[in-house]
Amino acid sequence: MTSAAAAPWWHGTMGYEAYARSFADGDGDGIGDLAGIAAHVGHLAWLGVDALWITPFFRSPGFDHGYDVSDYTDVDPIHGTLDDFDTLVAAAHGVGIKVIVDVVPNHTSSLHPWFLAALSDPHGPYRDYYIWRDPAPGGGHPNNWVSHFGGPAWTLDPVSGQYYCHLFLPEQPDLNWRNPSVADEFDAILRFWCDRGADGFRIDVAHALYKDEQFRDNPLIREPEQLTDPGEIFQSFEHRYDLDQDETVDVYRRWKRIVAPYQGILVGEVGTSDPVRISRYVADGALDTLFYLKPVWMTWQPLVLLDRLRAVHELNPERISWVVDNHDSSRSVSRFGGGEVGAHRSMAVFTLMASLGGMPFLYQGQELGIGDGIIAPEHLADPVATRNVGAAGRDGCRTVMPWNDGIANGFSTTSDCWLPAEDRPLEETVAGQIADPASWLHRYRALVAYRKATPALWTGEATWMDTPSGAVGALRRHGAVTIANLADETVTVELPPGLWSLGFASRALGETEATGSIQVPAQTAVILEPA
Ligand code: GLC
Repeated sequence: MTSAAAAPWWHGTMGYEAYARSFADGDGDGIGDLAGIAAHVGHLAWLGVDALWITPFFRSPGFDHGYDVSDYTDVDPIHGTLDDFDTLVAAAHGVGIKVIVDVVPNHTSSLHPWFLAALSDPHGPYRDYYIWRDPAPGGGHPNNWVSHFGGPAWTLDPVSGQYYCHLFLPEQPDLNWRNPSVADEFDAILRFWCDRGADGFRIDVAHALYKDEQFRDNPLIREPEQLTDPGEIFQSFEHRYDLDQDETVDVYRRWKRIVAPYQGILVGEVGTSDPVRISRYVADGALDTLFYLKPVWMTWQPLVLLDRLRAVHELNPERISWVVDNHDSSRSVSRFGGGEVGAHRSMAVFTLMASLGGMPFLYQGQELGIGDGIIAPEHLADPVATRNVGAAGRDGCRTVMPWNDGIANGFSTTSDCWLPAEDRPLEETVAGQIADPASWLHRYRALVAYRKATPALWTGEATWMDTPSGAVGALRRHGAVTIANLADETVTVELPPGLWSLGFASRALGETEATGSIQVPAQTAVILEPA
């Protein structure tokens, strides 16, 4: 058996994230569903992606739009039925696309039967499924932990007089992973979806499951400046005791043993930035790969971005799911400057990411080079925005996938969608861009195809090359050189000896061959191969 034959299926693949509420609406109620996704697998196959991650579609009261799960083994009626899931899996598998289910193990919905039982029977078996603490000695919250979404990470249960922990909304109580029954429940949940045809899992806040046994206060790094921004308040603490505890990684070793017989993949959302801490999650039979999220959170700072990509890549050359966009942050096109400039920067970064090995993921609409949708303030729906005065929230990247310039941009048959936004013009839609060979959509498709056809981009050793500026990242592999010029001017980059031909460029270029050195325009990435 060759090593290629022994490689896991995801090696060299490209993932794609569909935000369940906004990708496509099959039943005309204005909310995306599984039938809608199934109807559009043709687009994903045409784009050339290999695996589809669908955000949570399980039963949920929807306080965090599906990330508050009240039944992990059923489909919420707004997204369809279990039969619709089977149909979607069959449709995706029929065109060679794997299906990745989003599992949410850090917290349930406050309306999950486990939590309702924990509240109603403080001495019953479900109480210990969650994290309860007595008030601090003088009264008040048990410690200084804060929620990602604003306010303290503790809410009082007035009946028992104890607080429960929630790193997100009060409607998302955190599970107690020190209770073995919780682990058993999730074993069964994973098996349920694997038996139904899932090809793996994206794991929500994978770094959060265990908490410090002594519930110590987190050290304060600095006083937050913007008291209206929950993200900044959260970042003003060092999360030494509420996140990224050593024991958490063991959960994924256990999960890996469960999914391995199904050839299932585990892709973790690991929201820590330290490259060394990150490495633990993909070591020794734990996660297959994990999202490195710094590029999704950043504004345009090319030196910092390249520095971080390099540091993470050097430690984990094959085990990162590179992303520049997802459903939790402003679209990179907007974050990186907006319009054409933002779109060129975003694609230059993603072209470099496509050369780093691992399993990159596109986020729905990224292939169109579009920025955030425009939403009237009264229509904001994300709890981060609706519960914190002045916080922007995450709605801008969650507006509906623009398929065409019809009703609701072709997302639904109704214009009354769950997240009303300004319609996008034809040139920002799939239909408009398919008709234009020079569009972003065609260029992203070409990148995906080129990567698939060029194993040199994801196999073998990669060496970072010297470049004339910290805003230029260049990577050499055996048989490929990728140069990302994130500076605002053209740069000349020395090439390894020999004649090189242009395999892919993130914008149309005149040159097709180079020797000695190459001039790369501003905000452009090129991939070269030996001529
Ligand atoms: C993850 C999800 C995000 C969700 C949060 C709580 O970060 O990506 O959308 O709000 O977890 O589940």
